[in-house]
Parts: sequence; C-alpha cells; structure tokens
Amino acid sequence: MTVLVAGAAGQLGREMARVFADEWQVVALPRDELDITDQEAVLRVIKKAAPAVIVNCAAYNDVDGAEVEPVTAMQVNGLAVRSLAEAAKQIGAMFVHYSTDFVFDGETDRLHCESTDPRPQSVYATSKLVGEWFARLAPNHYVLRVESLFGGGEEPAVGGRLQSGSTLDRMVDALLEGRPVYGFSDRTVSPSYVPDVSTATLELVRLQPEAGIYHCVNTGSATWFEIARAAAGRLESDSDLLPVTIDEVELRAVRPKFCALSNQKLAAAGIPMPTWEDALGRYLAERQAMALGKME
Ligand SMILES: NC(=O)c1ccc[n+]([C@@H]2O[C@H](COP(=O)([O-])OP(=O)(O)OC[C@H]3O[C@@H](n4cnc5c(N)ncnc54)[C@H](OP(=O)(O)O)[C@@H]3O)[C@@H](O)[C@H]2O)c1
Repeated sequence: MTVLVAGAAGQLGREMARVFADEWQVVALPRDELDITDQEAVLRVIKKAAPAVIVNCAAYNDVDGAEVEPVTAMQVNGLAVRSLAEAAKQIGAMFVHYSTDFVFDGETDRLHCESTDPRPQSVYATSKLVGEWFARLAPNHYVLRVESLFGGGEEPAVGGRLQSGSTLDRMVDALLEGRPVYGFSDRTVSPSYVPDVSTATLELVRLQPEAGIYHCVNTGSATWFEIARAAAGRLESDSDLLPVTIDEVELRAVRPKFCALSNQKLAAAGIPMPTWEDALGRYLAERQAMALGKME
C-alpha cells in the first residue's frame, strides 16, 4: 500500500517517511515536488500516486512571521488543506493532518481535551484552526494536534548543531556547548518527540479508530524552563539556566501560556504515548551519541 507524505523535507515529514518505509510504499514529496497551495497539482499528483493514505506534514510554521504574512499562512495552513482533503475524498484515501496547541488561548491551568473549545490568539493559530475545519472534508480524516516538536533536526555534515532544529533542539545545542539557556517559566507545554509522533501516526493508520481530532503529544507537561532544567541535569551541563517570562520577550504573535494537552483519547484508541521525560531521555542519549561520534 502507498502513503503519500506532503511536506516531506520538514522535521516531521522526514521522520514520517522513514517510519512508514518499513511496511509501506512511500511517496515522499518535498515542497519543490508538490506545492500544496497549487490546487490543480495537488489533485493531479494525488490521483497519479493513488495512495491509500495522505499524510500532510507541510505547514507555514513561522508564528511571528504569520502576523506579517497572513495570506501566505492562511493559504498553506488553511486553504491548501481543503485541496488535500477534497483530493483524499475523491480517491477514497485516509487523510492525516497535523494541528497545534496554539488553537487554544492557554488561559487555564487544566489539560486541554479534544472537546475544549479552541480560541486562537494569533494569525498562525487561526490559520491552523481553519486547516482543522477543512480536514473534515475528507470522510476518513485524522487531525493530530502536536506541540513543541523536537528531535526531528537533521544531523549536519560538519559541526555539532542540528539543522532546522526546534526550540528544544536549539536548547540542547546550547547545553552541549556550555552556552546560557533561556526558557519560559510561564509557558507550559506537552512536548512532542518527532519519532513518537511518527510511530503513533503509523499505529493510528493501522488501528483506524473513529475519525476526528486526537491530541498526539508526549504524556505530561512542564514549563520550558523546567524542560531546560531536566535536559541540563541529564547532560550534566554547566550552562547557566535563565528563566524568562513571555512578557519580558518582544514577540509579534501572542503565545498561549498553559497549553498542556491531554492525550487520553489517543490512549483509549490503543495508542498510549510515552512521557515527555522518557522521550527526552531517548533524545538526549541520541544527541550524546552523535556528539561522541563527532569526537572520535
Ligand atoms: N514544530 C512545532 O513545534 C509544531 C508545533 C505544533 C504543530 N506543528 C505542526 O506539525 C506539522 C509538522 O511541523 P514541522 O515542525 O515538521 O514543520 P517544518 O519542519 O517547518 O516543515 C514544514 C515543511 O512544509 C513545507 N512547506 C511549506 N509550505 C509548503 C507548501 N506550500 N507546499 C509544500 N510544502 C510546504 C516546508 O518547506 P520549506 O522549508 O521549503 O518552507 C517544510 O519542509 C505542521 O502541521 C505544524 O504546523 C508543529
């Protein structure tokens, strides 16, 4: 069976293509092979590949950039999802799409469930919510909300830092190099390890629970500062750890404060997610092995 991965050069897309490749025929399409905003190309390419499953990892993810490029953000995160979902519907394919914790306003101290009402506070968040709505056009759809992805950076040919790394990837770069690390002490998240999200997606496709929205994050939550402290402890890093608050940093787009997600619905569907501490441990072991490999 064939799976088509759109946005295959991104951090999640690369890993998704790799995880599916063991059992599936993978058509992995980076942006230069399929621009998802090209409605005609989407239909043509999807009809030609005739996949059983379409996994959309493409997105406009620049949260602050979206405030000045709202049209592009809406085209990629919103309208293009309509084209993909409609194409999926036409060929009877399953459609898997990813959304974000940013659809919530974060004004709470309780875990968000799939039934919690979204209240996006930025252009990026609004565009992702529109994408969630359009994904429903495919009868057999899954919208997986992920959050603070990490562990999908590419190992560079030269030098120790990961390319196209996420916030946590960059924190670990700094910890390994002994540079100071800043972390929000008032933003609580449920980090999502890219390999765990990819494996969960493969399981979801296999188990095919009821269509709809699922929170696909590692279990538990912490502030970014707590995550930095946990990583520093495991790496025995000498870096200075500096807590900052959202108000202290000049940012164009609003950041929701409390965005921990409950993944109980996914667990009830037979896909329990490891804790973020477990995921962090595996990720740091991998980064240390990578750093050691470079020294040898
Ligand atoms: N990263 C996070 O922490 C996070 C948090 C919450 C939700 N998510 C969601 O998780 C999913 C995967 O995110 P990610 O972190 O893997 O993203 P990523 O690393 O930024 O990758 C996104 C990919 O989409 C491609 N892309 C952009 N516009 C496109 C277009 N018009 N047509 C085709 N491809 C296009 C990008 O190509 P270029 O590089 O050429 O632009 C990039 O390769 C997305 O839905 C994202 O919104 C991510």
